[in-house]
Amino acid sequence: MDALTRRAFLHGTTRAAVGVSVVAWGCGSEAEQETEPPSPESDSLAARARARGLLYGAAVEADRLSSDGAFSAAVARECNILVPEVSMKWAALRPTASSYDFTRGDALAAIARSNGQRLRGHTLVWHQALPAWFATTVDAGNAERFLREHIASVAGHYAGQMHSWDVVNEAIDTSSGRADGLRDTPWLRFLGPRHLDLAFTTAATADPAALLTYNEYGLELTSSAARRQATLGLLTGLKDRGVPVHALGIQGHVGGAAWSQFDPVAFGDFVDRVVTLGLKVFITELDVRDDHLPGDQTQRDQGVAAIYKAYLETALARPQVTTVLTWGLSDKYTWLASQSPRGDKLPVRPLPLDNAMQRKPAWQAVAEAFQRAVARPTS
Ligand code: G3I
Repeated sequence: MDALTRRAFLHGTTRAAVGVSVVAWGCGSEAEQETEPPSPESDSLAARARARGLLYGAAVEADRLSSDGAFSAAVARECNILVPEVSMKWAALRPTASSYDFTRGDALAAIARSNGQRLRGHTLVWHQALPAWFATTVDAGNAERFLREHIASVAGHYAGQMHSWDVVNEAIDTSSGRADGLRDTPWLRFLGPRHLDLAFTTAATADPAALLTYNEYGLELTSSAARRQATLGLLTGLKDRGVPVHALGIQGHVGGAAWSQFDPVAFGDFVDRVVTLGLKVFITELDVRDDHLPGDQTQRDQGVAAIYKAYLETALARPQVTTVLTWGLSDKYTWLASQSPRGDKLPVRPLPLDNAMQRKPAWQAVAEAFQRAVARPTS
C-alpha cells in the first residue's frame, strides 16, 4: 500500500454502522422520529459517530483500562479512537537521555488494536511533560539532534498504527511579546521557529501514513481573537513553506466562568479559515469545566450538556471536522478533578459518563450532535 493510500486507510471512516440504525431519532424530521430509538446495548457514541463518517474517542491510559473492568468496557463500547493522556509524552517515554520506554504506550496500542479502535499519538513536541534530565542535557548545540532522534524513534516505533499525531502542541502564547505569537519554549529558544518545520518534516518521514496535526487550545472565545490569529499565522506559514501538516487539533477545554464569552460566529469563521488552508480539523480534548454551575446535580449536568451541544453544533456544522475526542470518558478519571476543583468541593462532572459509567445528559448531547451532523464523505 503506498503512503497516500495508507494514510487514507488509517484515517478513513466508514458510514456502515454496526448494528445501529443510521436514522435520526429524538430530533430531525417526523419520518425520522418514527424510527425506534436504538437499544442502549447497541447504541454508543462510536456507533453514532460512525454512522456519520465521524470518529469519536477519548484520552485514556492503559493501566486504568487494565485495572477497571467497567471503565474498560465503557471505553470499548463508546470509542472508535483512543489517545494516550500521558504515556506518549517525553516524560513518560524517555527515562534517560539515551533510552526509550514504550511499555505504557504499547499497552494502549494493543488495547486499541484488540478493540478495533484507531489510535492517535500525543505529543511529540511540547514544552510541558519533559523529563527532569531535559533541562540539564538539552541545549542549543544538541537540540536539533534530540528533536530529530525523538520524533524519528517515537513516530517510527508506531508507524503505520497511527490515525494521526499531535506533532506540535500549544506553541502559541500571545503574551510572549513576539509578533508571531509563538510561546517562549526550550525548542523556540534553542532552534527558533524552524523547530516547527523540523518537527513536521521528521514526523512525515518517520510515519508517512499518520495525519500530522498542530494541536492548540483557547480558540473559542471572544477574547481568543489574538490566539486564533496567531494559530492561523502558524498554519499559513507551514503551508506556505510546503511543510507536511494535515490537520489542526482544537483541544476544546471549555466551560467555566469564561464560557459566557463563547463566540460561535468567530469560532466557526476560524474553523472555516483553517479549512480554506486545506486542513482537516479535529476536536482533540473536549471537556466541560462545571465550576461555574450550581451544585445541584441535575442543573449542573444540564448546564454541562448545553455547553457540549453549543460547541459541537458550531464545530460539526463544518464537514471537515471529522474527529471528536473527549479528554477522558468518565468523570471517574479526569484531570479537572485536581486541576479545576469546585469551590464547594463537590466532585466535578465534565465528561459524558459519570463515576459509575452511566450516561449523563452530556452523553445525550454528544450523541444528538453526532445524529444531527451531516454525513462526512467516506474516504
Ligand atoms: O501517575 C503518576 C503517579 O504515579 C504519581 O504519584 C503522581 C504524582 O504527581 O503523578 C502521576 O502522574 C501525573 C499524570 O498526569 C497522571 O495523573 C503527572 O504528575 C501529571 O503531570 C500528569 O498530568 C497530565 C498533564 O497533561 C501533563 O502530562 C494530565 O493528566 C493530562 O490530562 C494533561 O493533558 C494535557 C494535554 O496533554 C495537552 N492539553 C492540555 C491537557 C490538560 O492539561
